[in-house]
Amino acid sequence: MATTSQFTERDVSEFFDRTTQTYLSFWNSEGVLHTGYFADDADTDYHAAADRTSDILAADAGIDATANILDVGCGCGNFLLRLAERTGCRGEGLDLSIERVRFAQGKLAERGGGPRLAFRHGSATALPYADGAFTHVVSQDALFLVPEKPRSHAEMFRVLAPGGVLAFSDFLQPKPEIGDAARRHVYDRVRWNGGYSLDGYRRALEAAGFVDVTARSLDAHIRQTYRVLGRTARERAAGTDDEAARSWILNFADSCDEIQAAIDRGEFGWGMFVARRPA
Ligand SMILES: C[S@@+](CC[C@H](N)C(=O)[O-])C[C@H]1O[C@@H](n2cnc3c(N)ncnc32)[C@H](O)[C@@H]1O
Repeated sequence: MATTSQFTERDVSEFFDRTTQTYLSFWNSEGVLHTGYFADDADTDYHAAADRTSDILAADAGIDATANILDVGCGCGNFLLRLAERTGCRGEGLDLSIERVRFAQGKLAERGGGPRLAFRHGSATALPYADGAFTHVVSQDALFLVPEKPRSHAEMFRVLAPGGVLAFSDFLQPKPEIGDAARRHVYDRVRWNGGYSLDGYRRALEAAGFVDVTARSLDAHIRQTYRVLGRTARERAAGTDDEAARSWILNFADSCDEIQAAIDRGEFGWGMFVARRPA
């Protein structure tokens, strides 16, 4: 059995900068890059499932027009743009990948910009905001990538106003030891340093000062996400003439199979969390 590798923030940012265009052309042209919440096993609509994840998190967080939100690891900005369109809230998105931040800024400009939203380059471990600046901190499938997780927890706690809400989805490492296949196809593939079990995550959030922590395991949804993406990848590869692109897509499809196997072995998972900074 292997433990996970060690990656730096630079490794992570280089990976997400380098793969931005690949993911845009293959995974989702809007730049959405998170796990879907599927209606059932027969549901194969990844795009609808990914939007459903956003809507469930927004409902869990209790976001409305009065909210001022920070999206940590916002990627191409879709969650915040969706929240603002639906509720009229304010907010900022922050991401370690300058390429993704530029994409998000371009989308915001296309939609007319405005003073209520902004996207910024930076890290979850050193949030460039004043204490208590936000009513809500949200994040989708990004915090697992932070090498120093207690630091990012402390930072999210700091920038939340008293009584503010943290709501996020994240990858889980259910057990400390993982096999070589899981390390290669799940962890090292996306420069993941390893993380928490569901209960371990709850304890880490409480150690950072958060209260009223709720944690739910949603492994069936991440399994379905990679089942659907793997199938899409193989269909896409069959219609791709570019040899390099085809090889990347087929490698990804193989990883999708390995990811599902890792979930079945209890080496990988996905959860949703809601917590509160005490009032
Ligand atoms: C799987 S993507 C998710 C993107 C977005 N939340 C979404 O749902 O489409 C993970 C994102 O986390 C960002 N990220 C990784 N480490 C980070 C850090 N330390 N601080 C801020 N963002 C980070 C990556 O650059 C990447 O855009």
